[in-house]
Amino acid sequence: MASSIKGFSKWTKEEKLQWLAKTYFSESEEVIQLIKTYWNSDEDLQKLHDEFIENTLTNFYLPFGVAPNFLINGQSYTLPMVIEESSVVAAAAKAAKFWSERGGFTAEVLNTEKIGQVHFTYKGNAEKLERFIDAIQDQFYSDTEALTQNMRKRGGGILKIELRNKTQLLENYYQLHVTFDTKDSMGANFINSCLEQIASTLKLAVLQYEPFTAEEKELEVVMSILSNYVPNCVVRASVSCAVADLASAEITNPQEFVDKFVQAVRIAEVEPFRAVTHNKGIMNGVDALVLATGNDFRAVEAGVHAYASKEGTYSSLSHAKVENGIFTFWVDLPLALGTVGGLTSLHPMVKVALKLLGNPNAETLMQIVAVAGLAQNFGALKSLTTTGIQQGHMKMHLKNILNQFEATDDERKNAILHFEKNIVSHSAVVELLESLRK
Ligand code: MEV
Repeated sequence: MASSIKGFSKWTKEEKLQWLAKTYFSESEEVIQLIKTYWNSDEDLQKLHDEFIENTLTNFYLPFGVAPNFLINGQSYTLPMVIEESSVVAAAAKAAKFWSERGGFTAEVLNTEKIGQVHFTYKGNAEKLERFIDAIQDQFYSDTEALTQNMRKRGGGILKIELRNKTQLLENYYQLHVTFDTKDSMGANFINSCLEQIASTLKLAVLQYEPFTAEEKELEVVMSILSNYVPNCVVRASVSCAVADLASAEITNPQEFVDKFVQAVRIAEVEPFRAVTHNKGIMNGVDALVLATGNDFRAVEAGVHAYASKEGTYSSLSHAKVENGIFTFWVDLPLALGTVGGLTSLHPMVKVALKLLGNPNAETLMQIVAVAGLAQNFGALKSLTTTGIQQGHMKMHLKNILNQFEATDDERKNAILHFEKNIVSHSAVVELLESLRK
């Protein structure tokens, strides 16, 4: 077994690189050169990126693209998208254009509450615990005053601190379930700092509470942490138009189109295997914007999928209906996003992305992100229920295959022309290149 390395984080970048290359790669010099190719020539900029995490060796590129023509609540936007999947930006732009000619997208924030919890064990009388928590409510607020001062000035802060008895689920398990409004910040640090202070107040007050027996005073805090499940921080995005108005070059029979489209959504509502892929398509749009705007995509993913299971079975996040000849398609997404703090003021490209969106507040960003998810879902379902997904996917993928085989400009031109009339597949591209290279 390899011996563990001591003090690795304190080594210089060069030392780490040398060690890594020599330990894991036979062509160590080539690997080092490749890794260095991705360094930014601006040393200050590189240092900024290096310091985001520990043990940074280099940068890892993802494309930053834009999807224009998004009309959201009457305002037009070009969306910044960071994603590696070839068809996502094209699909977003296409859906945006389609709906911009049919009234655009509507989005509204339904609520903005965030949650954090202090998990603790207590072996004693539950009613006595309730009286104790009631008695120290004010103390929780006064002890967190210094932490919440700025947030309160911005209209946010701690909204509610509730005792929840969870002993039916786990012996002696209780929690303080705390509700927050974190305004334009995602709020993770704010929430966690408040929770740790609330836990300290709890631990101290329990010792001083006279009605408690010695055993009851043994109340133990297990942990204090925000929850990434935010079912009360939800935004709704929707599109709607008369069925007949869906007619386009691609949709020649709008009634047939909506019947199949609505059926596809119903399938995702009742069938978890389909729902997961359906929602993955929504997240193609959501994550691309969450990344571009420097938000925490793991938090968003975890919260969204938990929300998709809120009825006990994993289900579609989007819904569709036709009523009185009007087609409506919408999505509800729990999104804990920030436009201040974190990477938003640090990463230069995040600043560009936010500026491109008009420096939105968190609620507006929630709306834009939900729209990106809905647009992506519309694009996917439209393809799936008509031409199938591969036609568009493989057209986009063609460029990747050509890159893989280092096609020349002439070969590229030939290939693009050829595949306008022929089906793209990996082997078909290889065959064409071989025949061109003969
Ligand atoms: C691919 O990234 C996303 C889709 O599979 C979504 C869907 O099936 O709805 C096309």
